[in-house]
Amino acid sequence: MSLFVYHQNQLYVEQVPVTHLAERFGTPCYVYSRASLENNWRAFDDAFGSHPHRICYSVKALSNIAILDLLAKMGSGFDVVSQGEWERVLVAGGAPHKIVFSGVGKTCSEIEHALEVGIACFNIESLDELARLETIAAKRGAIAPFAIRVNPHIHPPETHPGLITALKESKFGVPCDEAWKLLKRAQGNPHLKLCGLACHIGSQITELAPFLEAFDKIIRLADKAEKEGIHLEHLDCGGGVGVSYQKENVFSPAFYVETLLKKLSPRPYTIVLEPGRRVAASCGILLTRVEYLKTTTAHRFAVVDAGMNDFIRPALYSAWHDIIEVVRSSARKRAHYDIVGPVCESTDCFGKNRLLSIREGDLLAILSVGAYGFTMSSNYNSRRRPPEILVDGKKIYEIRAREEWNDLWAKERMTVPGF
Ligand code: LLP
Repeated sequence: MSLFVYHQNQLYVEQVPVTHLAERFGTPCYVYSRASLENNWRAFDDAFGSHPHRICYSVKALSNIAILDLLAKMGSGFDVVSQGEWERVLVAGGAPHKIVFSGVGKTCSEIEHALEVGIACFNIESLDELARLETIAAKRGAIAPFAIRVNPHIHPPETHPGLITALKESKFGVPCDEAWKLLKRAQGNPHLKLCGLACHIGSQITELAPFLEAFDKIIRLADKAEKEGIHLEHLDCGGGVGVSYQKENVFSPAFYVETLLKKLSPRPYTIVLEPGRRVAASCGILLTRVEYLKTTTAHRFAVVDAGMNDFIRPALYSAWHDIIEVVRSSARKRAHYDIVGPVCESTDCFGKNRLLSIREGDLLAILSVGAYGFTMSSNYNSRRRPPEILVDGKKIYEIRAREEWNDLWAKERMTVPGF
């Protein structure tokens, strides 16, 4: 059930009219629904029933600490890829022992700090990384918990090529035969504690088959390990579950988990999932106001006050996002517009040829921007990043204020003082 619906032609977020939010906080502005976020997270968690599992929400999708706080309170774990991400989790009250740390470029300082913090698991992506982890753990007299991130070399799923991470040519993880060597190498090492196997095949994947292809390979490896007396506690299937941006047919978390558990049975492993997009995408909209309607010989443009710096997915991946009027009017004529921002780039376009009935000053909502929306925003063109607003029923929380002008240069220094 969507928490963004029209009542008498006015778009609401839960029980709050969106126009009210635009008046109070200005535009552009991110707005999230608490109920939507929580329902999305619970859909994964509930699907497991009594089977041991951990939902490690992928922080990179939407990392505002108020959001992380809500998820931590629901019992979520977290998938992080940088110290910045786990610092956020800790500030938000997340538990270190529920954090998994992925990424191909973990620095020595990150590894040291993660050991100090006591994270649950390093998802190791190469032999050299395992060696580095071992050296640092030994120096500290610590035992480092780790899983091997396997690259299962699957058939390319249907998604943007830039979002696939499990092909032969991908930089992520280690192939199955090399993973086996890493498992053997770590066996009996006093400073390494093998926890499991991990894999993350990519993002915005809407078919189940690629996940199952990968899971089969992971299970085979786990079985081989078990036969050799190498015991694993968990299998981490990563994130990647797609959402419906443009009426794509997607499978439900319940069906996904049910299928995984069937394949797994009767093995007792804890299953870890790292969903980001499927938890966060549908909970957010980006509000923007039409500044100009501009007609050229070739096109009709609606120039809006949000830019690609605020939301980059359409420019970066040619991603489709529905764009709707905040106040609908059947009286006005509709026309096709390219919805473009003010940034000085031709790719600063949120959608082409969209049928809308709009006038200058009207509000538009760009949908399903909760994931990889604000987190990928920037100050390009010296634009301030927009505020983030969380709606909970009738209640409204500004969980991040619009940046001030002097935030833009707060970290800069005049190189020649008094020049
Ligand atoms: N785990 C790992 C190791 C990951 O690298 C990712 C995403 C996830 C979990 C979460 O995947 P999700 O459930 O959100 O698909 N900026 C792109 C998406 C990049 C995803 C990167 N890794 C976009 O806007 O589509």
